[in-house]
Amino acid sequence: MVASALGALRGLRGLRAWGAQPLSPCLRRCLAKYTVADALRHRDNTDTAILRGWVKSLRIQKKYTFLDINDGSSNEKLQVFLPTEKTPDNLSWGSSIEVTGHLSTTPRGQIELIADHITVVGDCKVTDGYPFNSKQNHPPEYLRQYLHMRTRTKYISSIFRIRDAATRAVYQYFNSLDYINIHTPILTSNDCEGAGEMFRVEPENAKTLLKMYTEGVPAEQAYFNTKAFLTVSGQLHLEAAAHGLSRVYTFGPTFRAENSKSRMHLSEFYMIEAETAFVSDLKDVIVVIEDLVKFVTNSVLSSCEGDVLSLRGENNAIDWLDKPFIKITYDEAVDLILKNKHKFKIPLEIGQALRKEHELLLVELMNGTPTFVINWPKEIKPFYMRSLREDDTKVAALDLLAPITGEIAGGSLRENNYENLKKKLPSPDLNWYLELRKFGSTPTGGFGLGFERYLQLICNVTNIKDTIPFPRWPHNCSM
Ligand code: 4AD
Ligand code: MG
Repeated sequence: MVASALGALRGLRGLRAWGAQPLSPCLRRCLAKYTVADALRHRDNTDTAILRGWVKSLRIQKKYTFLDINDGSSNEKLQVFLPTEKTPDNLSWGSSIEVTGHLSTTPRGQIELIADHITVVGDCKVTDGYPFNSKQNHPPEYLRQYLHMRTRTKYISSIFRIRDAATRAVYQYFNSLDYINIHTPILTSNDCEGAGEMFRVEPENAKTLLKMYTEGVPAEQAYFNTKAFLTVSGQLHLEAAAHGLSRVYTFGPTFRAENSKSRMHLSEFYMIEAETAFVSDLKDVIVVIEDLVKFVTNSVLSSCEGDVLSLRGENNAIDWLDKPFIKITYDEAVDLILKNKHKFKIPLEIGQALRKEHELLLVELMNGTPTFVINWPKEIKPFYMRSLREDDTKVAALDLLAPITGEIAGGSLRENNYENLKKKLPSPDLNWYLELRKFGSTPTGGFGLGFERYLQLICNVTNIKDTIPFPRWPHNCSM
């Protein structure tokens, strides 16, 4: 499959109606008449506008009171004003309000709401422990202490609007290429990556386990008759589904019990994984990843331009969008990194995995263009990867490296030769996986893209914990 073929396919599918349904009267009543985003798109209108949101700034003057409100629908605030005599006493910064009035355009072209009435829905006790201050832009580390309230801030709400837009674009992308979405299981008895980084799952209720006890089964495994874990990757199940559905993907939570508090690791993160049957060239995996990343990024830029701009700043455009991503082999990458030995602290030896600083250095040497490193040493990659025909010490694998995060995606061709796979199979629990190679087997290839790391890249966010609404990491699972 080449890039142009992908484009043609997407064009055809794009012809399908993608229209929004009209809102039923009941739903219209249920939602406010306007969101702030609607209002800002709106011009003068004699209709009464009802808006709901939170007060972002408040200036009470003698004659008039001015306030800015936002309801999370837009990066911008809507200015509201009303005669001070009509201002409720308990109106303060941070309170939630309902405003009734008329939209109007100022001589400077700014849309504002001339309010007739304001109701305070929930007042905000700013002097009684409210953690945010109207005059301050709090740093992300500070906001992280208030996970339950941080969506009220401009910084975090921009990231989550982008997260939402990117999520929709991912589904749209795969749908446009006829990939079928598979809900791979969260609970599994397999360790896909073979790294032992799983969380064990068992019932909390000891009585349940006791009731379910089966002779010969360890007591703590009584529920499933086997050890069960939270999934580290949906790949193996996707491979099973690809043997029958050809093109499949999944986009869901993934869990890793790594003891890493780095700014790139979470214990729970979302992964976009795709698997394609009848693929025996790593280039066919690479083309989909590159196209996906560019498609989603373009979608985000068109629907969340203001958010991206406010997060990245005016002088920090995403300049890799129009460039082909770089492709180099592991050997070439190591060579390049070693030539720049003086620029990193942790030593690197040929055959070893790249450390974060090596990855970031490599991307820097590529002027920030995302870079695929392909053909990795077999020893440092999982059992399921296929060896290169021309060099048995290497596997047909890729890591996609990008600025800010280093690795954002990993993928490979899968070992589909029954005998070869049998030799490498880490556990008899995976006999079902081996069996795929016995009955109508096909070569497949696929990848996993870390969604939060991707968001770090496009939102210019240093710490991954700010890209997921409720981050979990070692020693932290509050809420
Ligand atoms: O490289 P990984 O471990 O690859 C797999 O899991 C394959 N089974 C995927 C596949 O081929 N279907 O993980 C894929 C990506 C990484 O490149 C990284 O972006 C992200 O998942 N990732 C994490 N993101 C946040 N926190 C962690 N602890 C992560 N571990 C991996
Ligand atoms: Mg990896």
